[in-house]
This record gives sequence, structure tokens and C-alpha cells, in this order.
Amino acid sequence: MIKGRIVGTGSTTPKRILTNKDLETIVDTTDEWITRRTGIKERRISSNGQGENTSDLATSASLKALEMAGVSADALDMIVMGTVTPDRQFPSAACLVQKALNASKAVAFDVSAGCSGFLYALSVATNAIATGNCKNALVIGAERLSTITNWEDRSTCVLLGDGAGAVVLTPTTEHDGILSTHLESDGSFWNLLYASNGTYKIPEILDTVEGKPFYVKMEGNRLFKKAVECLADIALVALEHHGLSSADITLMVPHQANLRIIRAAAERLSIPMDKVYTNLQKYGNTSSASIPIALDEANQEGLLKAGDYVLLVTFGAGLTWGASVVKWSV
Ligand code: UT7
Repeated sequence: MIKGRIVGTGSTTPKRILTNKDLETIVDTTDEWITRRTGIKERRISSNGQGENTSDLATSASLKALEMAGVSADALDMIVMGTVTPDRQFPSAACLVQKALNASKAVAFDVSAGCSGFLYALSVATNAIATGNCKNALVIGAERLSTITNWEDRSTCVLLGDGAGAVVLTPTTEHDGILSTHLESDGSFWNLLYASNGTYKIPEILDTVEGKPFYVKMEGNRLFKKAVECLADIALVALEHHGLSSADITLMVPHQANLRIIRAAAERLSIPMDKVYTNLQKYGNTSSASIPIALDEANQEGLLKAGDYVLLVTFGAGLTWGASVVKWSV
């Protein structure tokens, strides 16, 4: 059976750092509250005209992943990007990346699945590889959430950040690679997290952020409970599918929404926190970008070696959630 295997990872975040202290000058909040309730200390915010559009960040992350993989852009058959903040409504941000990379042979498209966008995209790509229709695939998660953040809403603006991560997949017939992906959705809870139509004022300190006529609305409390439940349940489904236990997992790489959510899910799964990768302290919640950025950083830090089992697990707007078991192969 053919599967996709990860042969390269890359990530890029904007230069500008917005700290919790900076946010104290924008909304009625404190570093202490944000740290205690979320674990976040700072986030990256992209600037207009600095080559930091969603597709720019995605292209930069992709070039790093392609270089690590030793795969040239013209050998790509597919570019699939999870994003809820493409540069434009259309064309897809993936098509803009295709142009920037000169990946003329690739079919390119975006996937919209809230914060689960990267895992959904990974599933599409690895399934395409399994059919034999696609050989080399570039899977991206990239976001510019700062452009749809309501900077007057302290319950959401302290959480979000910008960035991009990417992986390159090639086919394998060995017992390695993306062993499976498990996805779920429940549209009946769409109104716990969504983009609302409206306009808002961008504070002076962020005057390089371009606003879009919609912004994030969230019912944080109810979402928190659903997130813990869904993350733990889907992770168990993925582990049981392979007859694995949490003790077999070298590293869990969860969506980086809130440290308390991650801790609670890890506890339900009996995975100790030293086997859970977190970097939301530096980037906040970057939606679709959070897992591929974390995966790349874990890889660059040498935390993964060939043969290790890695558990990816995500949750987001839709509601959408999912998990994947990866036997590491980079
Ligand atoms: O990525 C997709 C999935 N995202 C999620 O799953 C996010 C899930 N939700 C969460 O992470 C948490 O619910 C939040 C971090 C959003 C909020 O934390 P919480 O512990 O659930 O706080 P809360 O909403 O229950 O609010 C507690 C209090 C409220 O004040 P009162 O009513 O008790 O007086 C809020 O007004 O904290 C207040 N508050 C703040 N205070 C200072 C809310 N935001 C802030 C803030 N600074 N930034």
C-alpha cells in the first residue's frame, strides 16, 4: 500500500513580535491574565508591504521544506494549503504559492477547515498519493489572523498570531510515513467560532496591519470544553486504529490554542507533558499554521528520529477536529 511520508519540514513567522505587555496598551488585559489562562507570552504579527502576506509566509516555509526534502518545486504534483486567511477571496493562496515557487506541474488549492486546515490538507495529500495519482505533494498551513482580529475584543485578540509551516510528502511502501488520518466535523456548533461581518478600528500601535471587513467571534468557554473532549477522543481513535498506546508515542504535536486545553487533553490520554510539544508561548494560536510550525521546530530541535511515532491532533472552527499517527521518516 502506498502512503505519503514526510521528507522535509519548514516554517516562517513574521518579524514583528507583539508581547503581552504591548497588548496591555491596546485592551484591558494583563500579562498575568494571558499567561495564566492561556500560556501565551507573545505572538508574531505580519506587516503590510513587508513580504508577509499569507502566500509570502507560505512560500518561505515551503522553500525551506523543499530544500530539506531535496525535492525541486517543478517535481511537485500537488500544493494544498489549509488557511482561513488567504491573501484574497480568490484565487487560492496555494495558487499564489505555486506561481512563486514556479511549480508548474502541481495542482494547487486551499482547504478551509478552521484551525484543523493543516490536518485536513495532509489527509487530502496523503490520500492522493495513496491512489497513485500524485507523487510529490507540498502541504501547507498558513495564516494571517491579525487581519481578521477584532483588536477591541480582549477575549480573542490576545490569543491569535500569524505564521506558516509546510511539509513535503513523497510516496512510501514501507511501514512509515502518514499511517492514517482521522477527521471529524460537526456544523451544529459552527457558532462557537466564526468570522463575523463588520469593521473595527486597528489601534495605532498596529497601524501596519491591514484590516479585512470581518473578524473572529468566539464563545471561548464552551469551545474550551469541546476542544478537550474532541482532541482526546480523536487521538484515542487514531492510536487504537494502530493498536498503539500513549506509551508508544514519542511526541504529541497538538494544535496550539491554549496550554490549559493541551494539558487537559494530554492528561486524558495519559501522555506526560514532556512528550507534548508546545510553542504557543512564542506564537499564540496561528490556526492552520500551528501544527506545521510546531512540527518543524520539533524536527529542527532534533526531538524526532526515524521510526518514532508522532501524534498530530487538532481542533477548530466548524467545528472540525482530527488526528494523525505519523511514523517519522525525515
Ligand atoms: O483554535 C480553535 C479553538 N480555540 C479554542 O479552543 C479556544 C478555547 N477557549 C479558551 O482558550 C478560553 O476559553 C479563553 C482563553 C478564550 C478564555 O479563558 P477562560 O478561562 O475560559 O476565561 P472566561 O472566558 O471564562 O473569562 C473569565 C473572565 C471574564 O471576566 P468575568 O466575567 O469573570 O468578570 C472575562 O471577561 O476573564 C475575562 N477576560 C479577560 N480578562 C483579562 C477575558 N479575556 C480577558 C483578557 N484579559 N484578555
